[in-house]
Amino acid sequence: MPRFCTLDDLDVAGKRVLVRADLNVPVRDGKVTDTTRIERLAPTLAAIVERGGKPIVMSHFGRPKGPDPSQSLRPIVEPLSRAAGGRPVRFASDCVGPEAKRVVALLRPGEIALLENLRFHPGEEKNDPEFARQLAALGDVYVDDAFSAAHRAHASIAALAHLLPAAAGKNMQAELDALGAALENPTRPVIALVGGAKVSTKLDLLQFIIGKVDRLAIGGAMANTFLYAQGRPVGRSLCEQNLADTARAILSRAQERGCEIILPEDAVTAEKLEPGVVTRTIGVNAVPATAMILDIGPQSAERICQALEASKTLVWNGPVGAFETPPFDRGTIAIAKKVAELTRAGRLMSVAGGGDTVAALAAAGVTDDLTYVSTAGGAFLEWLEGRELPGVAALAAP
Ligand code: 3PG
Ligand code: MG
Repeated sequence: MPRFCTLDDLDVAGKRVLVRADLNVPVRDGKVTDTTRIERLAPTLAAIVERGGKPIVMSHFGRPKGPDPSQSLRPIVEPLSRAAGGRPVRFASDCVGPEAKRVVALLRPGEIALLENLRFHPGEEKNDPEFARQLAALGDVYVDDAFSAAHRAHASIAALAHLLPAAAGKNMQAELDALGAALENPTRPVIALVGGAKVSTKLDLLQFIIGKVDRLAIGGAMANTFLYAQGRPVGRSLCEQNLADTARAILSRAQERGCEIILPEDAVTAEKLEPGVVTRTIGVNAVPATAMILDIGPQSAERICQALEASKTLVWNGPVGAFETPPFDRGTIAIAKKVAELTRAGRLMSVAGGGDTVAALAAAGVTDDLTYVSTAGGAFLEWLEGRELPGVAALAAP
């Protein structure tokens, strides 16, 4: 990862500070249902205000095709103000042009501006230099605090960073530090735990990660593809049979690289995926033709827990079972609790990310016990694929 400028390298006193945030938070009936991303922005806003700068917050929200009142950032005004310790937040109903300029000009010390959804303008997603110039006209310096949007080469993330003195905000910095500590300069042995439904969506990730970690535990429906590739019966389980060759190639490459692969040995199966259905726990060589594998079994969970005990660093993306539907949450919860216990005891540095993983950690009640939980979904995945993220590249120090 290149060295990047941080907020501490930037003189913000008396300046208008354009802050790219990711306020793409879940909203239901006009209410924010998870404020994590808003709260993670607070340290950056506090640092700017305390140093005499005026934060002008901008973000995308949803995926609107042009202006769309149902995708407005207005419902974020109140939670943003609360997260910022009650500081007043002035809302601009457009992110560029006269309305944005008017609100920015009215800002008094200690106040925060919030601009309307960047994606109401097509120039945002096109990384349009002219749109970036319109944004740049609103500020003197630029801070990117949106790691979770860093995989998007959009105007407020890429083009804009080259028009003003630019730096990483506190949240971006924390994400990059945690991710760097997990894969770039980790304390070994390192274990990766990868779950989720499909091998096809995580191929690049698997290829990259086997060259980086000492152990890789695979769970979730994607493990079925590997079991199938080894000639085991998977019944009616979700399985990408067309990827059997790819799965075998990953296994042999892992062996060449000295990366131990941990696959399920037993499984919790059922005839259908429904809460409270009759389940059967069996070895992976005995899955009946009519059954579906819906969670790892207790032996497999124990094996992963032992591997965690023997590791110093963990990177985790993806649940190991259909955790939204109990009782198929047991494997994921058992592992989450083990990770929490080892982290609390100072024996494991644990980094997790991705929407489902974060939800699983919350369900297990252990979110705060991990070393770092990323708020990023797609950006976390692309980082695990070893890709350069445009939003990070744009902040690289000269
Ligand atoms: C996210 O929620 O993952 C980010 O805000 C990126 O959103 P996008 O996938 O709509 O670009
Ligand atoms: Mg997304």
